[in-house]
Amino acid sequence: MKKIVTIGLGLAASGLFLSCAKSFKGIPEVTSKMAMENGVKESDLARGRGVYMAHCASCHERIHPGEIDPEFWRGVTPHMAAKAKLSNVEQTQLLRYVMAAHAEVHGFDPEH
Ligand code: HEC
Repeated sequence: MKKIVTIGLGLAASGLFLSCAKSFKGIPEVTSKMAMENGVKESDLARGRGVYMAHCASCHERIHPGEIDPEFWRGVTPHMAAKAKLSNVEQTQLLRYVMAAHAEVHGFDPEH
């Protein structure tokens, strides 16, 4: 029971964090630092960002990667990749990029 309460509080806290988050501007550029910190090749991240820029703003505005939780990105990406008719490779690169970009703007805060 105690554990459930703790998890509940954690979720509430992260919800609060999201609702207070500053509004992000610009889709983060890929940097070698971002690649290194995420253990992903810079060229893959760059391709992922390219996919994001090219295919993800035709139906709705391009959503800043930092505005969506990593868990939600994992779930929504295959769904959106199908809508945008991405290949499997493009989908993988896209997901790597949005996760890395999310981490970049939020920092590697284990609480988040
Ligand atoms: C064919 C139109 C279409 C394309 C292309 C598309 N989306 Fe979407 N997107 C939608 C619709 C419609 C929704 C609303 C909910 C749903 O269908 O899941 C949505 C919802 C979302 C959400 C959830 C937003 C929220 O606040 O809940 C995210 C994130 C997202 N899209 C990202 C993407 C990404 C990344 C791409 C590029 C691969 C993309 N979308 C391409 C139509 C599209």
